[in-house]
Amino acid sequence: MEIVVSGIRPTGNLHLGNYFGALKNFVQMQEQNNCYFFIADYHSLTTHPKSENLHENVKNVLVQYLAAGLDPEKSTLYVQSDVPEIPELYLLLNMIAYLGELERCTSFKDKVRKHSNNVNAGLLTYPTLMAVDILIHRAAKVPVGKDQQQHLEMTRDFAARFNRLYNVDYFPLPTAFNFGEELVKIPGLDGSGKMGKSEGNAIYLTEDPASIRKKVMKALTDSGPTEPNSEKPEVIQNLFTMLSVVSSLDTYQFFDDAYNNCSIRYGDLKKQLAEDIIAFTAPFREKAAELLKDEQYISRAARLGAEKARASAAQTIKNAREIIGIKHL
Ligand code: TRP
Repeated sequence: MEIVVSGIRPTGNLHLGNYFGALKNFVQMQEQNNCYFFIADYHSLTTHPKSENLHENVKNVLVQYLAAGLDPEKSTLYVQSDVPEIPELYLLLNMIAYLGELERCTSFKDKVRKHSNNVNAGLLTYPTLMAVDILIHRAAKVPVGKDQQQHLEMTRDFAARFNRLYNVDYFPLPTAFNFGEELVKIPGLDGSGKMGKSEGNAIYLTEDPASIRKKVMKALTDSGPTEPNSEKPEVIQNLFTMLSVVSSLDTYQFFDDAYNNCSIRYGDLKKQLAEDIIAFTAPFREKAAELLKDEQYISRAARLGAEKARASAAQTIKNAREIIGIKHL
C-alpha cells in the first residue's frame, strides 16, 4: 500500500485527455494504494484570484471524479481548502524555500512572461504549496506528467532540506508514479499537440452528443494516402489514436485496412469516431448529471474526504511542529 497524492486545478470540465492521461489510471490505482486525490482550489487562485466560477468548478471536478469511478470510501477525495493543515505546513515550509530556487522554476518564469501584470507571492510559492500537498500525507508516489517533474524535484529538495536541517528522517522523498505502457496521450483533433482546455481543442466527458459530432467532423485531415501501406501523417495518426481508445478493435481494423489500401473515406471515419466517443462518454455523462442533482451526496462525499484528509494532515502537522520545536506554553 503506497501513499499516492494527486491534485488537479479546478479550471473547468474534464476532457478525454484528462481521462486517458490520468483519471482512468486513478480508478485502478485506488484498488491497491492509499490514494489522496484532491482539487487544488488554492492553486487556481495563484493565477485567477477572482474566479467567478471557482465554487462551481470545484463541484464539477468532484462530481466528474465520482462519475468516472473514484470511490470516496476507497480513496480520499477532497478539496484542498477544506484542509487547514495545508496552509499551516505551507507557512512552515516557506521558511526553508529559497527565493532563488523559486524564481528559477520554469513554471514561474513562464507565468511571469505571460501574465506580467499579476506576479504575486502565491505564484512564486506555487511549488511550496504543491510540495505541501504531497508531504502533508508523507506520500511516496505522485502520478504526474512531464510538465510537473520540476515541481516534484523541488518537493524532494524541500523534503530533504527539512530532514537535514532538523536532523530527522521524517519526510519521504516522493517520486513520479510511472504508468508505463498504459498511458495513452490523447491528441487534439486540430492538427498537432495534445488535447487540452487551454489549447481549445478538448472534447469534454460531459459534452453533449451534437457538440461532439460537430467537433469531430471539424477535425483536420489530409487528401488521403496515394500509396498502399504508407505511414500516417500526424493529423491522421491522431484520428487513429482516438479510435484506438474509444472504438472496437474491429472498427479500428476496418479503417486501418481502408487506409492501407487507399480506399479510406475520412468522412466515414469521423462519423464513426464521433458516434464511438458519444457511446464511450454516455455512462459518464449520465452519471455526472445524476450526481449533480444530488447535493446531499456531493456534500457528504466532500465531508468524508475532508475528514480523512485532515486526519492524515493533522498527524503530519503535529510531528512537524514537534520536530521544529513549536510547543504550547
Ligand atoms: N500543479 C499541478 C498541475 O497544475 C496540480 C497540483 C497541485 C498537484 N498540487 C499537486 C499535482 C500535488 C500533484 C500533486 O497539474
